[in-house]
Amino acid sequence: MKFLVSIVFLVSFFLQLEKGLGYKEYLFKNCETSGFCHRNRHFANGIKENPNYKSRYAIDPQSIHFESEDFIVSGNILKEVAGIDEDIVLPFELSLLDKNNIRIKVDEEQRKNIKLSNKLVNVNRYNETPNWSFRSSNLSYESKSGTKYSQHKNKLVIDYGTKVQYRAEVLYNPFKVVIYRGEEVQVILNDRNFLNYEHWRPKSANAAHLSNEETDFNMFHDDFHDARYDRIPLGPESIGLDFTLKGFRHVYGIPEHADDFNLKDTTDSDLPYRLFNVDIFEYETNSKMPMYGSIPFLMGSKPGVSVGLFWINSADTYVDIDKSSSDKDTKTHWISENGILDVMIMIAENPWEINESYGAITGYVQLPQLFALGYHQCRWNYNDEKDVLEINSLFDKHQIPYDVIWLDVEYADAKKYFTWQSEKFPDPERMLAELDHTGRNLVIIIDPHLKTDYHISDHVEKEGISINDPSNNTFHGQCWPGESVWIDTMNPNSQSFWDRQHEYSTENEFMGKLSTNIHIWNDMNEPSVFDGIETTSPRDNIHYGNWEHRSVHNVFGLTFHEATYNSMIKRLSTTGRQRPFILTRSYFAGSQRTAAMWSGDNMSKWEYLKISIPMLLTSGVAGMPFGGADVGGFFGDPAKDLLTRWYQTGIWYPFFRAHAHIDSRRREPWIAGDPYTSIMRDAIRLRYSLLPIFYTSFYESSISGYPVLKPLFYETPDNLESYDIEDQFFLGDSGLLVKPITEEDANNVDIYLPDDEVYYDYTSGNISNTVQKFTGPGFISKPIELSDIPILLKGGSIIAKKDRYRRSSKLMAHDPYTLTVALNNSGKASGSLYIDDGETFNYEQGEYANVYFTATNNSIKGKIIGHDGFIKSLDDIFIEKIVVLSVKELSSIRIQQSGSQWESNSRSLDGNLIIENPKLKLSSEWTIKIDDTKFTESNIKTPSKNSKESSKLESSKLDRNSTSFSLSSTTIIFTTIIALVIGIIFYKLRSGARV
Ligand SMILES: *[C@@H]1O[C@H](CO)[C@@H](O)[C@H](O)[C@H]1NC(C)=O
Ligand SMILES: *[C@@H]1O[C@H](CO)[C@@H](O)[C@H](O)[C@H]1NC(C)=O
Repeated sequence: MKFLVSIVFLVSFFLQLEKGLGYKEYLFKNCETSGFCHRNRHFANGIKENPNYKSRYAIDPQSIHFESEDFIVSGNILKEVAGIDEDIVLPFELSLLDKNNIRIKVDEEQRKNIKLSNKLVNVNRYNETPNWSFRSSNLSYESKSGTKYSQHKNKLVIDYGTKVQYRAEVLYNPFKVVIYRGEEVQVILNDRNFLNYEHWRPKSANAAHLSNEETDFNMFHDDFHDARYDRIPLGPESIGLDFTLKGFRHVYGIPEHADDFNLKDTTDSDLPYRLFNVDIFEYETNSKMPMYGSIPFLMGSKPGVSVGLFWINSADTYVDIDKSSSDKDTKTHWISENGILDVMIMIAENPWEINESYGAITGYVQLPQLFALGYHQCRWNYNDEKDVLEINSLFDKHQIPYDVIWLDVEYADAKKYFTWQSEKFPDPERMLAELDHTGRNLVIIIDPHLKTDYHISDHVEKEGISINDPSNNTFHGQCWPGESVWIDTMNPNSQSFWDRQHEYSTENEFMGKLSTNIHIWNDMNEPSVFDGIETTSPRDNIHYGNWEHRSVHNVFGLTFHEATYNSMIKRLSTTGRQRPFILTRSYFAGSQRTAAMWSGDNMSKWEYLKISIPMLLTSGVAGMPFGGADVGGFFGDPAKDLLTRWYQTGIWYPFFRAHAHIDSRRREPWIAGDPYTSIMRDAIRLRYSLLPIFYTSFYESSISGYPVLKPLFYETPDNLESYDIEDQFFLGDSGLLVKPITEEDANNVDIYLPDDEVYYDYTSGNISNTVQKFTGPGFISKPIELSDIPILLKGGSIIAKKDRYRRSSKLMAHDPYTLTVALNNSGKASGSLYIDDGETFNYEQGEYANVYFTATNNSIKGKIIGHDGFIKSLDDIFIEKIVVLSVKELSSIRIQQSGSQWESNSRSLDGNLIIENPKLKLSSEWTIKIDDTKFTESNIKTPSKNSKESSKLESSKLDRNSTSFSLSSTTIIFTTIIALVIGIIFYKLRSGARV
């Protein structure tokens, strides 16, 4: 069992079942059963029902202060409390940031007359979330010159912005902030007066001083299951605020939920989208329940404008979405259990600029080692060294490439991390060396719970680096190994201890001598506590700084995988500066800097395969692109067709790993047998041939924050129809448009084309399909078989693949490339490739190159820009083939590179032009000239299309015969003669100049 349920739980569970509640609904809170959410929704509903509601929050105009130098406006919001004279003072700060972003922070002034019952708890409101979440504490505002402040009687107006004019109006009474981009209002803070700042109050105050809209539900105790689990020492301290997004119907983000891409209206449900990291084993699909990770970042988009809301808070959080407005506004209501109110609002022209802004704050994805983009083989468990090495060689026997084999908890002695079960793994050094032989890697699991009574947990307890209970003694709870303690990675003293367990040194018995192909999987870091309410740490547990767990819950998992990352950086700095690879289950805003994530314990069912796509699109929009779902499903035994479809889908997951529960049958790709095995092999090999494109997309994401799996509306932000597509994506900017099949027995597929460009049918990456071409916008429909992976290649793209089968990505390093040129409606195409050593941080010192390909008129060109020394190291890498789609019968190809010229052969295959072995080196500029003919005149027919608003194209825009690269027969004869002559001339030149 993945989770141990106490007897008490079971008994009361069955009692609840009678009331019609599901298992999950019983175990986890919703807004009704959660004190602070209940109170805030009650408050909001009271305001909605009262047209005469007068807000109790106003800015004191006398308190307004700003310095034009640092671009911060500060002042006090005063909260009026029923029945007492003195207002509560809420100091606020509004700052302008780079890229025209705005940040608003609201704190609560301490009052001396309030006595807090528990001396062990830090009584300040938690404001350290950015210390973990942001990549740097230095936020800047560069465009100072364009800023103008004007103070009015009832508001402060700030005009700012470069290129486009922005305006923020800070209204005093009631407090609101209205933000314009250009002429139009885009976002309004506190539009609906849902601002609620639960100030500190003594328990004796209880229900006194509450206004009509307020309720005292669970203010000082928690009656969910059993009040004794949460003492709530500081009483109510929640914050709530509403944001109206003007004219935005489509909002995305706030992962992690197994739900639609475009967020749903939540107002009729007990459960708003909830952000609270929990071990929600066997989670349900189409649910707003919390999951393992949370990123409090929401993106709204409409043609011409996109916005980002970043709610910087690591406590339990609910987000209500209201789409009922007739003005196409989306109204959001954010509610957190405690902490200061801290929010960033980003407004730009399009969604990718919002990703740039968000990434500038929280960081971009760490460029992974190339191997991490290969195929990962995991299950709970590979039992021993023999098992591991057998699986390793079976991949070779079946000629399936893979890069990483994984060990789940059973490798450790009694699940004590940093030990090996020595009978089963007598010589890890030998095992890793054997894997390294074919360029393969091992990932082992290490979790934050540490079994009591062994040297690691003893040390954690003794050194005071544990998570503590409310009495400030080491907290003990249940997890995999039984009774356990938890390392508190928020404590700076934890780092050096953690470093020693990971270091590369003979003193470290566990992994000190292992080669560099070992990497780490951090699981259960929500943290999962089997006997805790909602399967996690009690909220009144204590972390470093005397902060309650309540305040840091959602960011704790990040602190854990970041500690591991820091330790691995140190380890690898002594072995050649390789980039660490860490997989985490729990994550928060900023986790993308140091870890990949996966969507936890899914099931071997079609609905889980299907939901994996919108889930990954969501995490990409929220700046966390390096994600995946367990291929095959964790729980259960997938039918062979489901497993096959899952591989065909999984090859597109940025993180591509198969994983399975200990009770499930073995299901490595060769077990199903043919035709399934062959189809899975083809799919995995397709992933490997596309690795240069994945790597390039990751590189782009690592400097810009763009999703690796690009949602369709990013490609066509002006086409509103594309905003609803959640089962298709582009692979970065490559032009590959994919629709994985996630339905059982599908024999037909509908694919949405977001624009009127030509799309080549590239099913399964096979050029023989490209004779079919389609255009949109609208849906096309085509028949499919089990072996088909629906892919289209957008006109205008040039992709560079590595088509040779190798056992692992490392062995592909010097393999030649194949270019595929897909001309657009005007006969042009371009593409690029990022290359570095694929392993180390040397690229940060400039050791990398970008390769650019273009096809225009009658030529194809390539050039390389980058570090000279690195480019030299690519000297043995060739382009072995160029395919120009839907262009045929070309007789003469003239090639120039490095001062030499030569001829190359071409042939026609399935209506495509194939240039075989052009002998082009990647490492310098080259040109292929095709005289007498022009790609631009390849007359690709664009079938007369319906207006942009049309919902569906009636039929497929099948266009088999549209492109023929036809040459007149005289041209052919003429060209042949010229070619022969040039060929003879250059034959000698070439043999002299080139090896
Ligand atoms: C709680 O315990 C830790 C050691 O585990 C100690 O550093 C800290 O000062 C203690 N807090 C208080 C308020 O005593
Ligand atoms: C292609 O052209 C040939 C000859 O003109 C014609 O017979 C055939 O039907 C066309 N195919 C399609 C799919 O339009």
